Amino acid sequence: MRVVVLVSGGGTNLQALVDAAADPAYGVQIVAVGADRDGIEGLARAERAGIPTFVVRVRDHRDRVAWDVALAEEVLAFEPDLVVGAGFMKILGAAFLTRFDGRVVNTHPALLPSFPGAHGVADALAYGVRVTGCTAHFVDAGVDTGPIIAQRTVEVRDTDTEESLHDRIKVEERAMLVEVVGRLARESWTVDGRRVRVGVAG
Ligand code: GRF
Repeated sequence: MRVVVLVSGGGTNLQALVDAAADPAYGVQIVAVGADRDGIEGLARAERAGIPTFVVRVRDHRDRVAWDVALAEEVLAFEPDLVVGAGFMKILGAAFLTRFDGRVVNTHPALLPSFPGAHGVADALAYGVRVTGCTAHFVDAGVDTGPIIAQRTVEVRDTDTEESLHDRIKVEERAMLVEVVGRLARESWTVDGRRVRVGVAG
């Protein structure tokens, strides 16, 4: 399965996918890595792996819609079967989602529908939950609202800071994302309303 990965930061989730994809049995070819900004470690990780990269910055376009169209066209050029948001910090608009309807997966560092948005880890910590985690979901027009594919839980510790908690979540998140993308690549999947079934067993 041809996959384009979108990043905005350190790219450790991307790195986990790159490492997994080195094994042909995993069934995934990362054909490109895209970002909304330059100079991030996520792009450096792709370059070190010899994977083509591209950057589409909002400020280079007249408005958000034009950016969304430009990003979709860049991604489309690589003819992906699946697009994976791995720490991508922009909301994908109608133009993008229309072109890749139902084939965009995102990972979020909280147990959706709790704590959506850009500060899921800090919000969970501030709320005082005892258990949080991460979610892999298909992207729809909302913010972190699409059908859920998989979730992993992480205990919150009294000594946790946002950083220590996020680091522990990311250990689970990387494993979750590698498992999800690999299963989507090797097995079929169906989405019935909000219910996702991967593989025959579901
Ligand atoms: C991940 O936890 C992702 O869910 C969140 O930001 C983090 C990105 O980490 N949006 P990395 O760039 O993959 O290391």
